[in-house]
Amino acid sequence: MHIFTHFFASSSYTAFTSRGKVPHFLLAIEKTYVVGGFFRRNHENAVDDLDKIVHEVNALKFNAKKNIQLKLPDTTRARFEKYGIDLSKGYPYIPSAENIPVYVDEVEAIRSQEVPFTDRGKNADPQKKSLFSAAKEVKDLTKHIGTEIVGLQLSDLTDQQKDELALLIAERVVVFFRDQDLSPQKQLELGKYWGNVEVHAQAPRVPGLKNGDGTPLNGTTVIWPDLARANGVKINFKNGGKVGTAKWHTDLPHEFQPAGITHLHLDAIPDVGGDTSWVSGYAAFDKLSPALQKFLEGKEAVHASLHNYLDRNDPFSGGKKVLRKHPLVRTHPATGWKSLYVNRGHTQYIVGLEPEESKIILEFLYSVYERNLDIQVRFNWKSSKPGLGTSALWDNRISQHSASWDYEGKEPRHGTRVTSLAEIPFYDPNSKSQRQALGLSLD
Ligand SMILES: [Fe+2]
Repeated sequence: MHIFTHFFASSSYTAFTSRGKVPHFLLAIEKTYVVGGFFRRNHENAVDDLDKIVHEVNALKFNAKKNIQLKLPDTTRARFEKYGIDLSKGYPYIPSAENIPVYVDEVEAIRSQEVPFTDRGKNADPQKKSLFSAAKEVKDLTKHIGTEIVGLQLSDLTDQQKDELALLIAERVVVFFRDQDLSPQKQLELGKYWGNVEVHAQAPRVPGLKNGDGTPLNGTTVIWPDLARANGVKINFKNGGKVGTAKWHTDLPHEFQPAGITHLHLDAIPDVGGDTSWVSGYAAFDKLSPALQKFLEGKEAVHASLHNYLDRNDPFSGGKKVLRKHPLVRTHPATGWKSLYVNRGHTQYIVGLEPEESKIILEFLYSVYERNLDIQVRFNWKSSKPGLGTSALWDNRISQHSASWDYEGKEPRHGTRVTSLAEIPFYDPNSKSQRQALGLSLD
């Protein structure tokens, strides 16, 4: 087995396949699946050998990512230097290969026990007096979704204001703050206030400076399309609306306790374009007929992870997703309103239906989100003061989003993202829809 390992490790060329750019050693290892099967059947230690090979190949794959060095946007560099982010060991921080899970069961095990969660918006002042009185202006960007708060720094919020903001996000789905002077450390601290911060198993992170020991700022994920492209994500003008973050999606629905509030802070913003759109899951539910609402309530859908992992018992059978089942209509714990919870990016099927039925119904539900402009908001991130960034905070329990790639990578777009995981999704049959609760017409 050592010979095989050496052969795979020594190959550094790449080939273009239907899956994009694939190192030759990976193709070779897949071709030798038959050999692997032979060893597994015939040698006591073969499974251990295969496991070793899989880990070594995985290490090669991730270590290659560490060699990619892109020029940091000037505004990003200025923000990081101001707040003491150590860039001397390269950027971003990529978790070490030995810490990145290889098998599906390992990823499932990371967060499979309930972490207590209390929604900070639940007991907040419904009038949000503390938050609104401190702002220069609070403006709704559309009737049904999206509010911008002007003249307030996120880094200055009191706990009471953070609670009220959580409730505002739960009601308005997404809330924006321009002209923010926000450190990654403060962004992480805010995320921890609103829930258990998601630490992604393999996503690039902001390098840390905690205690001066280089400990990574776990939970501060780098969102940088240029880096994704350097890592092989193929995005161009023709497919720009269908891949990556451009595809309508909800973040992390494959988690045991999926994402609640996600806070993306962009510190490098294209001069024109690079907008993001959000759509309300409350409103998507209210768009359906009572008969279809009744059919969907109480049903569950299965969601898949974005990243692929391996089946421990059949590691060369191709990438496998982490799968998780959640209510298709869920109740938000702070507002008590029902929301549709499916998305084109991750939802696989509706439990209990024939595959063809599931496919047709899901396609229709996606179209309700995607075609109804009146329940969407499109936001341009530009700040009004040079050098300051813009934050969007949205609730993934009740929304989908999609980023426009119209700037085609010609200008830098970079940000840091912190996600607060929320409750185990639930459906309360006694809960109301948003329009029911607000006393609005159901027609
Ligand atoms: Fe996203």
